[in-house]
Amino acid sequence: MSDKGKMWVTEKDGIYWPSENMKKKAFITNPDIFEEAKENPVEFWAERARELIDWFDSDWERTNEWNPPFFKWFEGGKVNLSYNCLDRHIEDKGDKPAIIWEPEPTDEEKEVLTYTELHKGVQKFANVLKELGVGKGDAVTFWMPMIPETAMAALACQRIGAWHSIVYTAFSPEAVRKRMEDAGSDLLITADGFYRRGKVMELKNNINDALDRVEAENCIVVNRADTEPTMVEGRDHFLSDLMDGVEESCDAEPLDAEDIGFLLYTSGTTGKPKGIKHSVGGYLVQAALSMKWVFDFHEDDVFYSTADIGWITGHTYTLYGPLIHGGTTVWYEGSPDYPDLDRWWNIIEKYGATQFYTAPTALRMLIKHGRDLPEKHDLSSLRILGSVGEPIDPETWNWYFKKVGGGRCPIVDTYWQTETGGILLTSLPGLGPFVPGVAGTPLPPMNYDILDIDGNPTEKGAVVIKEPFSPGMLRGVYKNPDKYKEEYWSRYGEEIYFTGDEGIKTEHEIGGQKLFKILGRMDDVMEVAGHRLGTAEIEDAVQEVEEVAEAAVVGKPHDVKGQVPAVFTILIDGAEPSEDLKGDIVRSVRREVGPVASPGEIYFVSRLPETESGKVIRRFLRALLKDEELGDMRTANNPECLEEIADIVGYNGPQDVSGY
Ligand code: WTA
Repeated sequence: MSDKGKMWVTEKDGIYWPSENMKKKAFITNPDIFEEAKENPVEFWAERARELIDWFDSDWERTNEWNPPFFKWFEGGKVNLSYNCLDRHIEDKGDKPAIIWEPEPTDEEKEVLTYTELHKGVQKFANVLKELGVGKGDAVTFWMPMIPETAMAALACQRIGAWHSIVYTAFSPEAVRKRMEDAGSDLLITADGFYRRGKVMELKNNINDALDRVEAENCIVVNRADTEPTMVEGRDHFLSDLMDGVEESCDAEPLDAEDIGFLLYTSGTTGKPKGIKHSVGGYLVQAALSMKWVFDFHEDDVFYSTADIGWITGHTYTLYGPLIHGGTTVWYEGSPDYPDLDRWWNIIEKYGATQFYTAPTALRMLIKHGRDLPEKHDLSSLRILGSVGEPIDPETWNWYFKKVGGGRCPIVDTYWQTETGGILLTSLPGLGPFVPGVAGTPLPPMNYDILDIDGNPTEKGAVVIKEPFSPGMLRGVYKNPDKYKEEYWSRYGEEIYFTGDEGIKTEHEIGGQKLFKILGRMDDVMEVAGHRLGTAEIEDAVQEVEEVAEAAVVGKPHDVKGQVPAVFTILIDGAEPSEDLKGDIVRSVRREVGPVASPGEIYFVSRLPETESGKVIRRFLRALLKDEELGDMRTANNPECLEEIADIVGYNGPQDVSGY
């Protein structure tokens, strides 16, 4: 019998639990799993690794090695991600759709890649890479849109042990250049352009200057939009030319589980983005397990994640997760509001998506402009809804639940990070409970806690992870072990991982574990429209403007995007605030970081709150923007400046900031 339209949850006192249908269907339905997994966490992971993954050699000596704060998993085991996503499915599922690609222009046909087709394309692409001299341990940077060739390129890198380093297309060429330099990559894979809101966004032509400066050896260009970009002889090659006549088969390289699988740059607390390193084996096991348990992913499911490949969610769940299990993943090229605000609902209906995974910011935009549009579509194929990237407020949660899920589907509010590689905290579909605004509980056998400033467990405070850690955790920051220690393993010592987030332990429970509510970042990282950005990187870009003497950037609450970057600047003597100057600042941020980081607000101030040693206290700026209590203003060396700033931002909070 078809699953369409079934009730997957039942309500009790305003919170939701799995229904009988869900309990029959779901992989995990017994809450004892939490206790059981904790009895021997290392064995738990070893069993999952053998059960979910095909290894060339699963005879690793030690499953786990932990030298705080460094760990290894399955070292000596031999494995390949591309093999697990492709080769092992070919015999049974060769003709099944692996990727369904939906181009943005509505007059273009969808493209379906079966497992066999994808397998072929990936092998040829891998041979193309080899012919360009790319091999194991080489970093390959991508500046790629959501097109099938991007999936092929990533899997091709995995196949030969090269590391992809994928940069989101809304980052600027300058940001790509910096990441290429840091990773030491001399190959860029890009496209001529792609479609967004009905227009072609050019990529190749925009990055030509940056490519010259980074002295790239090669650039592979996918022709997506027929823009005929400028190509440099000998360096730039169209993919179609390279693929022409290339050898068709390329075996997957048996990699060590502890080899690096890929780099992904993410924003931290300094201006320089960090190259997060993920291992081949541990990442794969964690991706496989979370995909299966959290989305209750069955073989016939059609998974639709709206996350762009430039972010970790795009890596783990738009690309690898569904393919590891031989499922189907839907890729959409463009914008949710093109040609209308129901494009996503249209896609769900068209392909019969069983899971839908997106970020609250997009939902808030769709609520604002197209509240009732989901009802115009048959969304009865959906079984599970997912949310990621920022806290989902109860109002958005309820709309998502009722309008998109028809009141039938659980929402898995998945809390995780680039650094964790996969989801580590949520409510499992077969267990629940699903509480609006509350993320959930650590997955078995994870051990999250909330600590106060002294490191004591408390109800509201810093979200941390304690032993046992999961195999999918980052293996470090590329070429920067000190940064790794400092950023994650210093606040509470070398055995406790600090997430950077603040959270609350709620009164809700499952299997003897509390559910966590995540409040947001405590450090200088922002979540803008679900995209993680560092304040320092934007500050550096603002400083590039000649008239700017000093700048501080913090997140300002925004009803759709969650947060937008708010810039506070002090101008040099003689410079006057003006709209032109604001324009210069915006342009500089777009050039240095990218459109994704465009300031939402620019304030000209005469002073910024500082510590005695001259460090800007951004905490005060954040509180002023949020209309919150500032606390003891005397921690600033110059508390009197807060009155001026309060005035400029229109502070309406409870504290009297005058009188200094
Ligand atoms: C935030 C994205 C609340 C959090 C997978 C985290 C969330 C940062 C949630 C990581 C959630 C992610 N509820 N906050 N369900 N999921 N976050 O590295 O602040 O792009 O630290 O990884 O996003 O962002 P990143």
